[in-house]
Amino acid sequence: MTTARYAALLLPSANRVYAEASLGLLAAELEILAGIAGPDRVRDVATDHLGGVPYVTFVADDLGEREVRLLANASTLYALFRVEGDALHPVAAPRLDRLDDDLVTIPKYAGKTNEQFTRLLLNVTVAASASADQMLDRPLRVLDPVCGRGSTLNQALLYGYHASGIDVDAADVEAYATFVRTYLQRKRLKHTVSFGPLRRDRKVLGKRLEATIGLTKEAFKAGDVRVLDVVVADTRRVGEFFRQGSFDVVVGDLPYGVQHGSRGAKGDLQRGPLDLLTSAVPAWTAMLRPGGAMGLAWNTHVAPRAEAAAVLAGHGLEVVDAEPYLRLRHRVDQSIDRDVLVARRPATGRAAR
Ligand SMILES: C[S@@+](CC[C@H](N)C(=O)[O-])C[C@H]1O[C@@H](n2cnc3c(N)ncnc32)[C@H](O)[C@@H]1O
Repeated sequence: MTTARYAALLLPSANRVYAEASLGLLAAELEILAGIAGPDRVRDVATDHLGGVPYVTFVADDLGEREVRLLANASTLYALFRVEGDALHPVAAPRLDRLDDDLVTIPKYAGKTNEQFTRLLLNVTVAASASADQMLDRPLRVLDPVCGRGSTLNQALLYGYHASGIDVDAADVEAYATFVRTYLQRKRLKHTVSFGPLRRDRKVLGKRLEATIGLTKEAFKAGDVRVLDVVVADTRRVGEFFRQGSFDVVVGDLPYGVQHGSRGAKGDLQRGPLDLLTSAVPAWTAMLRPGGAMGLAWNTHVAPRAEAAAVLAGHGLEVVDAEPYLRLRHRVDQSIDRDVLVARRPATGRAAR
């Protein structure tokens, strides 16, 4: 058995996002990703300074190529090294990314969920789901029930997953549709795309953006495409647009209860996230496959963790209330203290509706 010590270097930009919380968040995320490979695959996770530079360090026995490929996806990991004495040996850590990462970095707008945090949220949710061990192997199905201008959808597509979303704000979805169209053309990715009224029984129910994307030309020709499907409608109606029990994960960054930018008329949207959660969780839960997981980020200033967790548990979900998931909370700014709740739909039996 080879026991080795590793050092993970943080992306320089992580400090801008999370300030002093960044190392702790990377440590927690690495532990969660390692947990996909098995219990206690990494131990003695700590923060350390090597040559005056901060690192997250850990110890692992016989760390295999597949485990490294899991860890490589940590949202703020810049580089991984094996530590021998004073020397750092680079470890090749290829990310899962199937498209260029400018897909998640180009969009910039008020109210955007930061792309590193979005990746973390998706990672930790997938890790808690029954699909975790297929994270690297299969196009998972991701639903963001409050998708805004598509940060989660883009991250899902970056991983080569299928992405579905719903948001009540038509302007957000329209802006996202424009971005997607331009991006796919500019990158010369083979695709189909449409954005128009969604009709049923001659009634207009909302608007829908639909795209099919080939990760390569050959894949597109062979009909191997990723599906992007976004609806403008109230999230509580999600069951009218997407098939029940069809998503591996439901991932969303809930409204923060603070106004972003100057768009006033969000009406109903500005109610607390707890109200939204209470009324929408039954519909969101029904979207999950058995064993699927829901990962939600929200502002603890407007809803305490225990109350949000109680809503999820009240609908038959198993809340992951254990280490290292309890170490994901961090301050965003004066008005936002963000936390992450992850919960699983039981693998057998039906979740309460
Ligand atoms: C924090 S934002 C999500 C931002 C998104 N992750 C992004 O980066 O573009 C929360 C979103 O929830 C949406 N929302 C709030 N209430 C909703 C409802 N009842 N139905 C659908 N969407 C809702 C808002 O329109 C807003 O876009």
